[in-house]
Amino acid sequence: MFSLGSLSETHTVRSPAHVEYGSGAVDALEPFASEHDADSALLVTDGELARSGVIDAPRARLESAGLDVEVYDGVAPEPKLSMAEAAAERVADHDLVVGVGGGSSMDTAKLAAALAVTDRPVRDLLGTDNVPAPTGPLALVPTTAGTGSEVTDVGVFADQRDGGVKKVVFSSQLFADLAAVDPDLTKTLPPGVAAATGLDALTHAIESYVSLLRTPYTDTLALRAIELVAENLRPAVTQGPANDAARANMSLAAMLAGQAFVNSGLGAVHALTYPLGMECDLGHGLANGVLLPHVMRYNVPAEVERFADVAAALGVERRSGESERAFADRSVDATFDLLEDVDVPTSIAAVGEFDRETFAAFADVAFEHSEHNIERNPREMDREDVIAVFEAAAAGR
Ligand SMILES: [Fe+2]
Repeated sequence: MFSLGSLSETHTVRSPAHVEYGSGAVDALEPFASEHDADSALLVTDGELARSGVIDAPRARLESAGLDVEVYDGVAPEPKLSMAEAAAERVADHDLVVGVGGGSSMDTAKLAAALAVTDRPVRDLLGTDNVPAPTGPLALVPTTAGTGSEVTDVGVFADQRDGGVKKVVFSSQLFADLAAVDPDLTKTLPPGVAAATGLDALTHAIESYVSLLRTPYTDTLALRAIELVAENLRPAVTQGPANDAARANMSLAAMLAGQAFVNSGLGAVHALTYPLGMECDLGHGLANGVLLPHVMRYNVPAEVERFADVAAALGVERRSGESERAFADRSVDATFDLLEDVDVPTSIAAVGEFDRETFAAFADVAFEHSEHNIERNPREMDREDVIAVFEAAAAGR
């Protein structure tokens, strides 16, 4: 599968210390608490999850290990830096930090744990490798199948002092000591959230597979994650609680895609998502989903062979005599089909009104705040290219 060339140099694998996955994986919190001799835990989550009882299972495991559990439920979607600061103020009273929720809650738990071991202000920790010390024991428990935050060392936050602009923190110190990926916790996921977060996972997998920093390890994970999403996202969204297998496979896909992208980087979808999500108040997963096929269409000419692999992984069958390029192009069609089937728009015109001037401003934001993602995109992109992709995304399928 891989050429000798790709293995004639070495590659790094970065991952959490311990991953437990499958039905019942939350049980791993109990030995985790004992291992750290813990008496108390801060459970970081969002208010809706706390009210709906989704946090009950992880909370019960911590309590049955004899811990006092304090719940910080001040996280909201697209979390602000201030939420991590507020959670961090409570970390000192506890032996463990446990993030339970979607990417927002897990990212907030990571940054809160990091803030608790330094006197430095939160903005000093942003960017790459600016977390100065290892965090205390940190466990992450996803309740969506999407962001893969449980297996990454990345956090994304809106900076409330800077007009809500998204800021990213990358640091190996943010890897969890335990990631407990339990698909039983996604049982009550609303269909719209299942669709949006699942498309985030698909975007991670496809962007990883064509990233300029891909490796044989990330390729293996990314390709399988694409297959799993193609086979399981539709039933996971439409049958939710009744289809344990589809949800379990989506949890696995999200985790594999997270491990892929944290080792390969992402691409232009994740850069263009920033301004679109901010302007239209779209969640991260939905913004990625709408843009994904349009960025793929732009990228196919640069990576025909790779997008032919993506088409196959998405379940497209090659017609006899079909050229590789035509087959690769059909990876874009298959992605549009998937969006339609899970009720996600295929055009950004469905989420707002735009003109060329807006797209020019979007391009500036993409370059200013997410240039690292554009640099890893397989086809070079300048400001005009970004505007053209937005225009194509507004024109639709
Ligand atoms: Fe993402």
